[in-house]
Amino acid sequence: MFLLRLSLLLLLFLPKTQAQEWYFPELKNYTTPGLAPFDFGVASGDPLPDAVVIWTKLYLESNKPEVVNWEMATDTMMQNLVQTGEVFTYGTDALTVKVDVRNLDPGTTYFYRFKYKDKFSPIGRTRTASQNAELLRLAVVSCADYASGYYNAFGHIAKRNDLDAVLHLGDYIYEYGVWRGGPRRMRRHRYREQIPDKTCTELRDYRTRYGQYRLDDQLRECHRLHPFIVIWDDHEIANNVTTAGTSDGRAIANWEARKAAAKQAYFEWMPIRENPERSIVRSFSFGNLAELWMLDGRLEGRSPQATSPNDPALNSPDRHMLGQQQTDWLLSGMAASEAKWKVVGNQVVFSQLNDSKVFDRRPSVRMDRWDGYPSERQHIFDVIEEKGLNNIVVLTGDVHTSWAFELTADPADRNRYNPKTGKGVVGAEFVTPSVTSFNFDDIVPKAICAEAKRRFKKKKNNPHLRYVDLNNHGYLTLTLTQERAQADWFFVKRKDRVDTRVQLCASRHILAGGKKVEK
Ligand SMILES: [Fe+2]
Repeated sequence: MFLLRLSLLLLLFLPKTQAQEWYFPELKNYTTPGLAPFDFGVASGDPLPDAVVIWTKLYLESNKPEVVNWEMATDTMMQNLVQTGEVFTYGTDALTVKVDVRNLDPGTTYFYRFKYKDKFSPIGRTRTASQNAELLRLAVVSCADYASGYYNAFGHIAKRNDLDAVLHLGDYIYEYGVWRGGPRRMRRHRYREQIPDKTCTELRDYRTRYGQYRLDDQLRECHRLHPFIVIWDDHEIANNVTTAGTSDGRAIANWEARKAAAKQAYFEWMPIRENPERSIVRSFSFGNLAELWMLDGRLEGRSPQATSPNDPALNSPDRHMLGQQQTDWLLSGMAASEAKWKVVGNQVVFSQLNDSKVFDRRPSVRMDRWDGYPSERQHIFDVIEEKGLNNIVVLTGDVHTSWAFELTADPADRNRYNPKTGKGVVGAEFVTPSVTSFNFDDIVPKAICAEAKRRFKKKKNNPHLRYVDLNNHGYLTLTLTQERAQADWFFVKRKDRVDTRVQLCASRHILAGGKKVEK
């Protein structure tokens, strides 16, 4: 208590200039009247059977400690209160309010809100992890570049009442400044300008960028109505980032400070459970139906990318995507799990993807994916085989396009994998398209997209590929029952303006114990 009082006292004497590190007047242009000071809305995340994190942030110039009250109820009228509390928030935390509400019931929908002075926040809806459900449904999203379009996928997800949670697999923000180069076709697909008008490198840059994203009505509404389970990919920090502090192979200036700033902003803005290391590696249980492992393939253990498929270092066992510790944690967790489905939330494409016939002149594009870390991937498959694990579902973002693969150690080796019988298949990988970020037809003419798709689908190139779409944006849902795991791809009609119409365009599933990914 003494320490709390002392820190409150010290905060009262913070110099005025420091307040500007968390209050950004330029965000005012993006706010919606009537919401202040809860302009950024409310959010929830990391649902456990008995707990969930609730979040808000005050948009105030204050450099004093502020008191915020919160309450959670089982009804939308906030009459049947189950818990209430009071928290302090500080400018040093950018006036973030995050409460890990405990002692809740599993598989239960709750409503929550915050109060600052006499102002109430909007009422949020959330849900704890079910432990005996017959069905679990997750929406899966990634890659939501603000400049590349409107968040219609988030707008559509917000309207759904049939989801347990939303998985965000990264590229929640893009750290870029304004694109001034690039193909003309790509520049034509720039619909909104990001602030600040520079690449994010410091804490105030990242904070401003998240602030702008979270003032988007559709994203804010999606957070209000569903718990999120999030991981970062590269653009929350820098393009193709690794633990070595490189971006696209080049050293990042002031790496440790920049990484710390990017991680701090992420934890301030995301409804993710706090931990001292600011690690995003964690798992979630949904009873005997599913267990979910969320991975960090960027900042936890990743070695720098190989320079090309001919790089002699490519196959070295010393190169890692996850690192030994995280790999052991994942594999021992999967081996011990009694859940039917072992679901992995992962950044980059896990399956082999032969794109050499598509990107003849850009052989290095795959070096950022698991194809660039073959030794660690092989080790994972070896352990899966050794322990006899199956019913594995890998969920992936990053590539802005939609894919389904049969999960197998080596699709090119006919002794290990038979696409006709499904021999060697241990599950499925489903890849979600981007919410907005550019994909094939944003960059190249439709005819080239069609040719690329034809080459990807050739049996000789990718015999384990069961679905691909290169041009659409949207999201996928993963629906799990004891019998099957099914991915459904929902594509938005447009991204050049707000329009929440979507179409269910494809479905693929694998049966429990099954060997084939089917329509
Ligand atoms: Fe992306």
